[in-house]
Amino acid sequence: MLNINNLKVSIDEKEILKGLSLKINKGEVHALMGPNGSGKSTLSYVLSGKEKYQVNGGSVDFKDNNLLDMDVDERANNGLFLAFQYPMEIPGVQTSFFLRTAMNAKRKFNNKPELDALEFAKELKKKSQELNINPDMLKRDLNVNYSGGEKKKQEILQLSMLDPDLAILDETDSGLDIDALRIVSEGVNKARNSENSFLVITHYQRLLNYIKPDFVHIIADGRIVKSGDYSLALELEEQGYEKMAQA
Ligand SMILES: Nc1ncnc2c1ncn2[C@@H]1O[C@H](COP(=O)(O)OP(=O)(O)OP(=O)(O)O)[C@@H](O)[C@H]1O
Ligand SMILES: [Mg+2]
Repeated sequence: MLNINNLKVSIDEKEILKGLSLKINKGEVHALMGPNGSGKSTLSYVLSGKEKYQVNGGSVDFKDNNLLDMDVDERANNGLFLAFQYPMEIPGVQTSFFLRTAMNAKRKFNNKPELDALEFAKELKKKSQELNINPDMLKRDLNVNYSGGEKKKQEILQLSMLDPDLAILDETDSGLDIDALRIVSEGVNKARNSENSFLVITHYQRLLNYIKPDFVHIIADGRIVKSGDYSLALELEEQGYEKMAQA
């Protein structure tokens, strides 16, 4: 699904990713953990195609194509999805309109018929109920004046509507209350299947109790310094990054 090899990335001439390699197969859930400023969000931005990041070396293959050659829309249409650490507020764009446009753009690209207003409304109602999202919220502008947790929930609603092949969740758990954390995790678990993959960025082992990853990686200073199974997250919780990064 995703093959990152020796990726080197800088922004404003500051090198952030310093030879990062990571391989994610179809059907796998990988967790990425690491101290503040280690390059987790940078990785997610580079993969999703955000401007300004300069790739100085290495390669990224997504479904056997060169991801770095694709523009942002192409990446999304080909099945890549990023849930932002800090979701953007977009005044003037109603949330439900945004979701429908994004969904139909992807369907069109993949030669599938667009959903009409009724079909879309049905799907949106079902998915928002599953995530315990108040339908009134979807009539408001995208993320504008949403609480921190509501923004994160909206991102997972987007995920479940778009049904991506690879979803990157950047600290989707931060800011969620205990019930929302469970609901959002259930949403992810529901979306999870043998055909798709997830990269879950988090600081807390707690999320991984709900979303059991197949692999856990620790990133420090722009590189993966340790990989393992779920037990690595437990070890990390006990020992902290500093000790683990040295080991
Ligand atoms: N435009 C920029 N100019 C200079 N440095 C930058 C720029 N953008 C990001 N950085 C730096 O890149 C490093 C990596 O940032 P990144 O957001 O990827 O960290 P992170 O691992 O996601 O951290 P956190 O856990 O706090 O979310 C940080 O030291 C940050 O200050
Ligand atoms: Mg970050």
